[in-house]
Amino acid sequence: MRFGHFDDEAREYVITTPRTPRPWINYLGTEELFGLVSHTGSGYTFYRDARFRRLTRYRYNSVPTDAGGRYFYIRDGNDFWTPGWAPVRRELDRYECRHGLSYTVITGERNGIRAEVLCFVPLGAAAEVHRVRLTNLSGRPRTLQLFSLAEFCLWNAWDDQTNYQRNLSIGEVEIDGSAIYHTTEYRERRSHFAVYAVNAPLAGFDTDRESFLGAWNGWSEPQAVVDGRSRNSVASGWSPIGSHQLAMDLAPGEERSCVFVLGYVENPADEKWERPGVVNKARARELLARFASDAQVDAALAELKAYWTVMLSSYRVATGDPRVDRMVNIWNPYNCMVTFNISRSASYFETGIGRGMGFRDSNQDLLGFVHLVPARARERILDIAATQLPDGSAYHQYQPLTKRGNNDIGSGFNDDPLWLIEGVAAYVEETGDLAILDESVPFDNDPAIAAPLFEHLKRSFHHVLANLGPHSLPLIGRADWNDCLNLNCFSETPDESFQTTGNRTGRSAESVFIAGLFVHAAPLYAALAETVGHAGEAVAAREHAGRMARTVLAHGWDGEWFLRAYDFFGNPVGSAACEEGQIFIEPQGFCVMAGIGVAEGQARKALDAVKARLATPHGIVLQQPAYTRYHVELGEISSYPPGYKENAGVFCHNNPWIIIAETVIGRGEHAFEYWRKLAPAFREEISEVHRLEPYAYAQMIAGRDAPRHGEAKNSWLTGAAAWNYVAITQHILGVRPELGGLRVHPCLPKELPEVTITRRCRGAEYRIAIRNRGDGGAPALRVNSTPIAGTLVPWAPPGTVVEIEVEV
Ligand code: BGC
Ligand code: NOJ
Repeated sequence: MRFGHFDDEAREYVITTPRTPRPWINYLGTEELFGLVSHTGSGYTFYRDARFRRLTRYRYNSVPTDAGGRYFYIRDGNDFWTPGWAPVRRELDRYECRHGLSYTVITGERNGIRAEVLCFVPLGAAAEVHRVRLTNLSGRPRTLQLFSLAEFCLWNAWDDQTNYQRNLSIGEVEIDGSAIYHTTEYRERRSHFAVYAVNAPLAGFDTDRESFLGAWNGWSEPQAVVDGRSRNSVASGWSPIGSHQLAMDLAPGEERSCVFVLGYVENPADEKWERPGVVNKARARELLARFASDAQVDAALAELKAYWTVMLSSYRVATGDPRVDRMVNIWNPYNCMVTFNISRSASYFETGIGRGMGFRDSNQDLLGFVHLVPARARERILDIAATQLPDGSAYHQYQPLTKRGNNDIGSGFNDDPLWLIEGVAAYVEETGDLAILDESVPFDNDPAIAAPLFEHLKRSFHHVLANLGPHSLPLIGRADWNDCLNLNCFSETPDESFQTTGNRTGRSAESVFIAGLFVHAAPLYAALAETVGHAGEAVAAREHAGRMARTVLAHGWDGEWFLRAYDFFGNPVGSAACEEGQIFIEPQGFCVMAGIGVAEGQARKALDAVKARLATPHGIVLQQPAYTRYHVELGEISSYPPGYKENAGVFCHNNPWIIIAETVIGRGEHAFEYWRKLAPAFREEISEVHRLEPYAYAQMIAGRDAPRHGEAKNSWLTGAAAWNYVAITQHILGVRPELGGLRVHPCLPKELPEVTITRRCRGAEYRIAIRNRGDGGAPALRVNSTPIAGTLVPWAPPGTVVEIEVEV
């Protein structure tokens, strides 16, 4: 069952009923100011840091769900309604929400009045624009009152929800014509404020929540709207809001629009005040003047759409299957850009006050967006690397505003450093920018101990070698990619973090997954070493990789699949000998991706075991059998009920490793089949089971041990976006940049017989036409009509077009 449909031409998902299973959201903003907007218009806005610069308030896990947002109430005689249906929930004659690329349009109709609300953040502006367009579809003149609503958050979103003894007394506003200024704490240490304004004269306003709502009402029935009359309230303490009242007379057929702007403004310290006690509004007025007319709004929206057109032109495909095309051309790269911008900070499952930017997460996100915004990827890499510690280990997270490592979590996740190699390699392969390896980058943000970026990679690589366990496999530390496999923590106390508690210092618990990742990263590292003249280091790295691969086959092979780990006591994890948790997905994926056991046959066996034991109609579960009791020696993984999260849920992040592994052994049918199982555009058909947005990846889909098998949770902010994109574009469709050229090596299923791809890279354009006659054969390439040996197409000069024909 569907709740809407894709409009590929417009690059929109069109939701046709407000009664979706859960709020289905979109993101506004591309640079600094971001908004989350659901299909009813709910959600919130922040500037750069969702914790420290929250502009508007939102209530997580609230009842009714999805409380707080940009609300526009239309009062028509004694009737009143909201175009997004909620929060008033008066039935609409027509409802539609179009989630596009960084904009959303919600349209509601009732009793012959149409209200269309367009929301977006223009490029280069720290402001959300909300254009409300009212049309009188009836044959008679109508008199309407329009009320807007934004509830201000007192900036620090954590304090805002916890410190009421203070924050109920600090709220301040200023009102200036049709502009409402939120100025809480501006008198002291803040030099920023918010403004919420409209380009029309007001019939009234409110800035005090209780005056607007009435003491006992909710957003569904604000007293000011019920009465048709704002109170002209001036907030002082309690909860400041911004609400405008506009009176509208509409002749039959008449259409009128007004533009609301919710902006964020910073003033230099010596320009804070216009006169004592009066905020300097010059910058705000400049901002508002940029979006004061319909024509300006149209132009800004057109500019935003053009920005996306250019960005998405770096990889375009036509396969004949619209579901594949819309994932690859539109929604998956869009999802990747959202993870680039927001990391794991703010979604409908992440409150924006918890996690900072993850070291491993950010490096992996890079794999999915590096071709879209290479310059920003470069900046991101340098930020991440600057949080690395001098011994090669890494802070697990850092804060986006300060860019400093987060001490609450610290370091000790022993996979982290290797992801830096993966991220930097992807960047250099995409851009050819070798100069980045010479950039001087601090360790632990301390410029006194800066070294070239290449040195950071070297320390990452050698950190693994300096931390090997009894089987010469890498020590796991607090956890590896699987945050919940906590082999050194032994937590028996509620309320402590599984990951940061305990951490026995014994050097025994080892990770086969990290071994696979090491073998995978080694050739990337070696190739980079060669390019910067460290030939000896490259040779050594390849030798270390060969040795590690042999160690995995000797001590990390269980007979039918790769082991997952050895625990603190040296017992195997993920072995047929275990009572529960006998086989895990991660080492099967990464060891095969690294080429371990491909020639010897273990790779195929491991992937067959995955198919037999882990594959379900809703994707590949993380392990089996699920843990049914708490295993203190394994940690958080066994704390989840069977079928959820790391305890045998379908983790959409690591399924692509199996997909890629299947292409390594040439099984395109299997790879595509697995990819389709997770791709939101395919799952759209079962939206009543999946329940989350059919246009964004979710972190997890409940596994077969869970009563709600197939139900997704935690959409948008997940490494699943990057890895699924890499799997389909670089391995199934098979087009990926390498240092020496563009690799074109598709591994396609029979159902995609003809595929064309346009890839822009390093200034040239590659037009690839693939004829696929079957499964697994070696591709034969002609480049500009001349056959070439192998599948690596040499880089062409910028500005040229290269025609590539591929026969599989
Ligand atoms: C979750 C993991 C997550 C971690 C972050 C755990 O509870 O299950 O998926 O990475 O918390 O701290
Ligand atoms: C989510 C975390 O953000 C990521 O770093 C981790 O790898 C997965 N959970 C799996 O535990």
